[in-house]
Amino acid sequence: MHRRSALSGLRPVDPSRDLGAVADLIQSAFADDLDEAGYAMLREMRALGRLGPLLWWVGGPASGVHQMLSGFVWLEEGKIVGNVTVTRAPYPGDRWIISNVAVAPPYRGRGIGRRLMEAAIEMVCGRRGRSVALQVRDDNDPALHVYRALGFQGLFGTVHLRLDRVVVPETLPPRDGIRIRPFASSDALTAYRLACAAIDQSAQDEHPVRPAQFEVTVEQRLGDWLRKMAGRMPSLRLVAEGDARLVGIVTVQAAAQVSGSLITLTVHPNARGLIEETLLRHALNHVSRWSHGPVVARHPTFHPAGVAAFRSLGFRTERTLLWMRRDL
Ligand SMILES: CC(C)(COP(=O)(O)OP(=O)(O)OC[C@H]1O[C@@H](n2cnc3c(N)ncnc32)[C@H](O)[C@@H]1OP(=O)(O)O)[C@@H](O)C(=O)NCCC(=O)NCCS
Repeated sequence: MHRRSALSGLRPVDPSRDLGAVADLIQSAFADDLDEAGYAMLREMRALGRLGPLLWWVGGPASGVHQMLSGFVWLEEGKIVGNVTVTRAPYPGDRWIISNVAVAPPYRGRGIGRRLMEAAIEMVCGRRGRSVALQVRDDNDPALHVYRALGFQGLFGTVHLRLDRVVVPETLPPRDGIRIRPFASSDALTAYRLACAAIDQSAQDEHPVRPAQFEVTVEQRLGDWLRKMAGRMPSLRLVAEGDARLVGIVTVQAAAQVSGSLITLTVHPNARGLIEETLLRHALNHVSRWSHGPVVARHPTFHPAGVAAFRSLGFRTERTLLWMRRDL
């Protein structure tokens, strides 16, 4: 371990004493990018941090809390000035994720970020991880420089799009041969196959597509019914069908992290450029019956016609996050 003294240098995160300082560091480093979910995570970290040594009572070193918060900090004269979090991906278990890479501004450019990353990679190698991945804004030049120097390669981007106010859009008639209809339970398997064809392999490696994601559970139906009864927006699931095959899906769900709605659009490669805007207009029409917005979307860069359709309907790009991976 690259340890200079007990008060300066690198050491593993100690959740029972570091959480408050790590939360402060993350908040100052990512101030522009934190959404409701990010602030909720910081609140949770601070609350856990206040437990101090009692945190061990929550479950000991092998518990979820401790695994979630594993990684390294960098100290200067006893103060935490750098952090990296290293977690095992939920599935498959030989892939790892690096996050919360941050160095306090006065200490940047001295090699601390690189040393933290090297320690994280070493840790994953020690646990027999097969690869390590992370997400970074595509305009974050210092971070991209460090990651590329350490052998990370860009896989694909996720464009974060936002529409603050929905103006009721006209619905376009579907193209000849394309039918738009509600998603039925019997569509689950074909929807899964559509997603497998539509999502780039590199993205599926990081987030494997599973059939269960396309099943609408009784709980979801009940939740939608209750939302409707309470005058709040229920989910919408529509499919586009051509030649009796699913070629597109659009879903709209309430998104607590933005107090608005989240639209997800999936289009088969053969139908790209043909159905995106039609599906999105239906989705915005649904939202406009219940609220004025905001509406957000997270759309992959490997489907540029999808990004263009969102933008043509008034969405603006907030940021683009690039997934990078290094195989070990
Ligand atoms: C990214 C970050 C962690 C890097 O930490 P750091 O301690 O400054 O990193 P290092 O000193 O090890 O390396 C910085 C490298 O970036 C280079 N760099 C600095 N500014 C740069 C720029 N504008 N464009 C390209 N490279 C740049 C430096 O020259 C250095 O490279 P070198 O070692 O080859 O000379 C730090 O900038 C940070 O905390 N940023 C805010 C939070 C953040 O964005 N985290 C990443 C989230 S994915």
